[in-house]
Amino acid sequence: MNYLADIRSRFARALAPLIDDPAPLVAMVHPAQDAKFGDYQANCAMPLAKALKKPPRDVAAEIISRLDIADLCDPPEIAGPGFINLRLKDSVLAADTARLVGDERLGIEPVAAPKKYIVDFSAPNIAKPMHVGHLRSTVIGDSLCRILRFVGHEVLSDNHIGDWGTQFGMVIYGYRNFLDQENFDQNPVEELARLYRLVHQIAGYQGAVVELPQLRARLSEKETAAKSMSEAAEQASGPEKKDLNRKAGKLRDEVAGVREEIAGAEDKIAKVESNPAFKALCDAHPRIADRAREETAKLHAGDEANRALWEQFMPICQAALDEMYRRMGIAFDLTLGESFYNPMLAGVVDDLVRRGIAVESDGAMCVFQEGKKAPFLIRKSDGAFTYATTDLATIKYRVETLKADAALYVVGAPQAEHFELLFATAKKWGYHLDCRHISFGSVLDENRQMFRTRSGGTVGLESLLDEAVTRARQIVDANHEEGELDDSARQVIAEIVGLGAIKYADLKHNRESDYVFSWDKMLAMTGDTGTYMQYACARVGGIFRKGETTRAAVRKSATGSADDIRFTHPAERALAMQIHRFGEVLAEVLVDFRPSPLTAWLYETANAFSTFYTHCKVKDEPDDAVRKSRYLLCDLTASALEKGLELLGIQVREQM
Ligand code: ARG
Repeated sequence: MNYLADIRSRFARALAPLIDDPAPLVAMVHPAQDAKFGDYQANCAMPLAKALKKPPRDVAAEIISRLDIADLCDPPEIAGPGFINLRLKDSVLAADTARLVGDERLGIEPVAAPKKYIVDFSAPNIAKPMHVGHLRSTVIGDSLCRILRFVGHEVLSDNHIGDWGTQFGMVIYGYRNFLDQENFDQNPVEELARLYRLVHQIAGYQGAVVELPQLRARLSEKETAAKSMSEAAEQASGPEKKDLNRKAGKLRDEVAGVREEIAGAEDKIAKVESNPAFKALCDAHPRIADRAREETAKLHAGDEANRALWEQFMPICQAALDEMYRRMGIAFDLTLGESFYNPMLAGVVDDLVRRGIAVESDGAMCVFQEGKKAPFLIRKSDGAFTYATTDLATIKYRVETLKADAALYVVGAPQAEHFELLFATAKKWGYHLDCRHISFGSVLDENRQMFRTRSGGTVGLESLLDEAVTRARQIVDANHEEGELDDSARQVIAEIVGLGAIKYADLKHNRESDYVFSWDKMLAMTGDTGTYMQYACARVGGIFRKGETTRAAVRKSATGSADDIRFTHPAERALAMQIHRFGEVLAEVLVDFRPSPLTAWLYETANAFSTFYTHCKVKDEPDDAVRKSRYLLCDLTASALEKGLELLGIQVREQM
């Protein structure tokens, strides 16, 4: 059910004789902002009037005269300069609402032309612990998979894990040099993560020592440039002064940036040098980053010892990931990581060279794209293949073997350039896969800095989930009397509430924006939060318990005819209308693969329900037919909220 789509297609027919391309005008039919204008509004008469050089209200009248809509809407009204207001007939809305009762799909018909989608998401680089940065990809990707499947597409969720990169060289170096065998035997995941962090920290320190003098030189250069630019601006006047001031401002920003980098490097150095034992360790392992890179290179070249270590580590890392996904309720159809494509990489480069798409440049193999400064590097001068080569092999595999039509890459905004080059190269290469980069912004702390732990490290995903559940448990405890719910039941709910809060808070933001991570906001019992939605769901369930009936019984009493649904108060009609918007909202989500309209719909549905419940008695309504209708609206609301949350990957319990 999608009234908007239906009304638009009727407008398309009405407009066709009036203008060559009605599509932009048809797109000007929207849900009405305010119920007093009806349910839908068309703003297309004004631009059409301009094109036809006629008064807009006359054009609106002409459109209406051609509009075949009497079966669906009350007679359209013209308002103001030429807005066309449409209101669905109550009889239509009541009949369609009655038909939704007991319909698992809430009136959503499967798409006419299903496609096969690959959704490439989560994709952590393993052997490093998962952190908050992986949250967004994981949560957004999972929700998109659920929505695409629900509307009838075929979906393969694919975890393109980074299981072949430089981090393995670090872990191998760490394992050979710093292993705590006892810790490894007891908790191998933790020990591998420790080794990774240790090598990473040493490399960071050594890098900072090398970089610091360079940074200082750059600082003085920039400072001089900024100063002379300011002086020049001082002398100048008019537009030139403005321009020079702007340039000086830009240089001052750069100075501040370099200062920050220097502070970071000094910090890294100070941390190590205040700890003589650690300093000695760093000195005993000079140029550790190069050593680690050599281990990675050996692994890639098929070195037996390194390969054996990799094979030992992989299942350990995978098990840790699996546990995280289990907890988050996320399943992958495929986990084809970077290593899977390794045997195909040489063939990819050869093929691109043979077709003249890749060319040599300074010993490296590159694909140059028109209008792009940076080439796509597919083989480095030392012979190593890259992330790009792997992604090309992945596209070939997705087209030839998986027979996919489309692929969504749910990856952060910093990789935008990579994906632009990748998609352009794949197209040149002849692989026509409808590829989209589903980009997203960062998670920030309350000071709008990258969300980090107090000690400045990245926030581990596991500890984040744990904290969510601990905080949710306090909410659960506050909502229940002693003895009302046992400990394990409370813990189950706390897990659902904690994870629901995190997921909802992430999904409700437009994916491309950064957002501020706030425990208090995401776990609030009122407002646009997962917690509120879950409790709203349970509250609807509570109405049935209070009325000593069940949703099943209420549904059984329904006949499926328009007579089941009575609109005696505007809030009943508004609630029914809101539930029917589901189809429009799903369509909106899929235009740009953005889950946020779905959270907005859930919130509006909960609010429409709240208004309904304030004005309309249910259990105590004396009129049998009206009471029955209201119970059915409660049942539909519960179904709507549950379905919407399910599509976001958020669980609910009937009793919370
Ligand atoms: N492992 C990569 C990273 O952490 C993300 C991979 C995304 N998927 C892809 N096909 N490139 O940055």
